[in-house]
Amino acid sequence: MSSDVRRERIETDVVVIGAGAAGLMCAIAAGARGRRVLVLDHANKVGKKILMSGGGRCNFTNTGTSPANYISANPHFCKSALARYTPSDFIAMVDAHRIAWHEKELGQLFCDESSKLIVRMLLDEAAAVDAQVRTHCTVERIERPGERHFRLRTTLGTVECESLVVATGGLSIPSMGATGFGYEIARQFGHAVLATRAGLVPLTLSGKPLERLQDLSGLSFEVEASCNGASFRNRLLVTHRGLSGPAILQISSYWQPGDALRLDLLPGRDALAWLQAQQRERAGTELRNVLADVLPRRFAQRLCEVWLPSRPMKQYGPSQLQQVATQLADWRITASGTEGYRTAEVTLGGVDTDGLSSSTMMSRQVPGLFFIGEVVDVTGWLGGYNFQWAWASGRAAGGAC
Ligand code: FDA
Repeated sequence: MSSDVRRERIETDVVVIGAGAAGLMCAIAAGARGRRVLVLDHANKVGKKILMSGGGRCNFTNTGTSPANYISANPHFCKSALARYTPSDFIAMVDAHRIAWHEKELGQLFCDESSKLIVRMLLDEAAAVDAQVRTHCTVERIERPGERHFRLRTTLGTVECESLVVATGGLSIPSMGATGFGYEIARQFGHAVLATRAGLVPLTLSGKPLERLQDLSGLSFEVEASCNGASFRNRLLVTHRGLSGPAILQISSYWQPGDALRLDLLPGRDALAWLQAQQRERAGTELRNVLADVLPRRFAQRLCEVWLPSRPMKQYGPSQLQQVATQLADWRITASGTEGYRTAEVTLGGVDTDGLSSSTMMSRQVPGLFFIGEVVDVTGWLGGYNFQWAWASGRAAGGAC
């Protein structure tokens, strides 16, 4: 028997390509409306990014979610979907499945036990509404024989449907099954795709800056990182390739090649007033020892070897103290690049929202075609915002597809 003969012919109402966060949520919502739903994924298991997220505990939402936490060429696009499916709605689902959770910091909610429970919950919800989920399925070609009619040639066989939902995610972590297939589908149907780049990603250093910091790999301290009008106060981590930690991951989404990063090394303090107080109180103490009280000692020492003149506090005149204060409050460092999609949590850019309805995620030019989740040009900050977008956009499409 040839493999073609074994191939199935499936007819359904809705096909969702991608069994990740957005795709599964969409399937649940569409199934609940009585739609026959088939979710197809090329990977060997569903929800791989959910499984690896939040260090295995899935930071599944953020209670402070607002449109201001997202980057998009059209900052208004995400508003409608986020307003109609809120963090409380997702928490209600988590609670109904008796999944224990806690707030870590800044509104970030994590499972107490494991991300596996979130995937289990989504699969149980999908099964409850009879949505079918098939893995190991490659979509080879998509045709559109008529209005509201899509035909997919897949490794399972031919699938015919009225609505096609693209939920293939972004390019981050190719080893986990990420592909640019969603962008290809968008282009096939005449949608613009905005340039993509890695976001929430460690920044790399090269040359002198790397030489000067590399051996401090592992040191971590709080900074306020700023670039292109955005600022994040959180921890910075020195790595053997450059800089990471939540403050750097956040600012990486705003950083463009060639931009200098501005780091306030004494966040929340008036650097000059603090130095003046140290000068009064510890006149004979060297700057590097004074700084070691508020920064890791080895970093304070390196700052004073390379960037700042270290001498006893009493030896700084007013203008020199001002210069030190400026350096500490506005320390500039130029990253040479990012670690790229290999380690990025998200992909910036993607399917242009101009071509989509913000209330349903449906294509404006191709009725029945939807794009949801990370494949769309909506990217959240670090902290549960990306899953909240996946749930909300999935829910919006699931109510209309
Ligand atoms: P997602 O990537 O989840 O799913 C896409 C699915 O499509 C996958 O199952 C994939 O196999 C499938 N697919 C791709 N190409 C295909 C093709 N050609 N054919 C068929 N199927 C295909 N966010 C957050 O809010 N909190 C967190 O804690 C984290 N943590 C985190 C850690 C790490 C390491 C990463 C990489 C990312 C995060 N994120 C996160 C981001 C979050 O995981 C991401 O934004 C969402 O998973 C996006 O959901 P989607 O459903 O859009 O894509």
